[in-house]
Amino acid sequence: MPDELRFRHVMAHFATGVTVVTSRAPGGRLCGLTANSLASVSLDPLLVLVCVGREAASHACIVAGGAFAVSILGRQHEVLARRFSLGDRSARFDELKYRTELTGSPVLDDALAWLDCRVTDVHEGGDHSIVVGEVVACDARDGDPLVFYRGGYHRMEP
Ligand SMILES: Cc1cc2nc3c(=O)[nH]c(=O)nc-3n(C[C@H](O)[C@H](O)[C@H](O)COP(=O)(O)O)c2cc1C
Repeated sequence: MPDELRFRHVMAHFATGVTVVTSRAPGGRLCGLTANSLASVSLDPLLVLVCVGREAASHACIVAGGAFAVSILGRQHEVLARRFSLGDRSARFDELKYRTELTGSPVLDDALAWLDCRVTDVHEGGDHSIVVGEVVACDARDGDPLVFYRGGYHRMEP
């Protein structure tokens, strides 16, 4: 049976994009975390999933808020990826340009692409929850993505 270290090492070879998943708790407090577990689930209805650690502060916020937005980061957004994974939670939205779409979850203004989602299901997945959301609005712009691979941030080579 492989241990956690080997599992992390193996999964680190799966290159992903990088997103910031955000939500608004019922009292209005904003939360958000860097996440690379985004996956497309279904076309009819339009569904995506994100896996959120049950220890993450954003977990309760997303589940209670019943909605989340996914901002897909561009090549210039490494600083945002770091802010939303390592930075002080209470300062993550400071001087950040964002807007709300349909659900009230904040969408980062210069994201490469974004999805605004209503939570439809929360499944247990070990120490994470698999949060499934119906996409109620989404859009994308031209640009290059930020890539996460083997524990580091990368830009796509042409
Ligand atoms: C590239 C990258 C991807 C990550 N992906 C996820 C993820 O998919 N789900 C998750 O729960 N945490 C993920 N994390 C860790 C969270 O961003 C980190 O634990 C964050 O501080 C949680 O914030 P919160 O406790 O305020 O919700 C990722 C971190 C990095 C750097």
